[in-house]
Amino acid sequence: MRQNIVAGNWKMNLTLPEGLALVSEITNMVTDEATGSTAQVVICPPFPYLSAIDKQLPQGGPFHVGAQNCSQKESGAYTGEVSAKMLQSVGCEYVILGHSERRQYFREDDELLSQKLKAALGAGLKPIFCVGESLETREMNETFDYISKQLKDGLFHLSNEEFDQVVIAYEPIWAIGTGKTATSAQAQEVHAFIREQIARAYDAEAAENTTILYGGSCNAQNARELFSQPDVDGGLIGGASLKSRDFTEIIKSF
Ligand code: PGA
Repeated sequence: MRQNIVAGNWKMNLTLPEGLALVSEITNMVTDEATGSTAQVVICPPFPYLSAIDKQLPQGGPFHVGAQNCSQKESGAYTGEVSAKMLQSVGCEYVILGHSERRQYFREDDELLSQKLKAALGAGLKPIFCVGESLETREMNETFDYISKQLKDGLFHLSNEEFDQVVIAYEPIWAIGTGKTATSAQAQEVHAFIREQIARAYDAEAAENTTILYGGSCNAQNARELFSQPDVDGGLIGGASLKSRDFTEIIKSF
């Protein structure tokens, strides 16, 4: 059975005191309101806050900590880099890889992402691997070809055992931070397509067990509708993960 997940990607926002206050509001609301949500919650703050946030989260509950990136290198003279093993050692369980902002602004390509995936899996982290098309690609009716290539080149080189650890996030670039959410039908269509590709590359069981998140202007108003789609197993939330009420509402949308 695949898990439902709501992940908050803080990106490069908030100071540590602001982050700690946000997490305490969210955990209080989730506990107080006994949400009954079936979702696991992954908080992805900037690197320097991971340890402090992890310590503040209630243990044994639905809360987990994730990073927004990691190095493809294991260790050594790589000034400014953070390895997967370092992340694991401060309590991190997940790492976002292949976010469109990293692909675009930091020129991360499929080859580099393949190495990062290996590094993350080698350290016991669960990658949240992002794919998604630009508006131009969608308007040219090339969305499926594009997503299929991203999956093949970036992800499907993994062994069955490695792939078992992966969460996929479908994030259409035109929906990220724009307030322009994909309709639930558009999201479902691509999610079902991704699941089909997994069944081809691996097998039906792997496809059935893979959590596929939707990301891109997902908020407290549209989460329930998006999450009700059969192949949408949760969300990767940017802007709305910075507001405790909104993020808690999204968690409660399951
Ligand atoms: P958004 O970002 O929710 O602000 O659109 C999503 C993401 O980039 O992961």
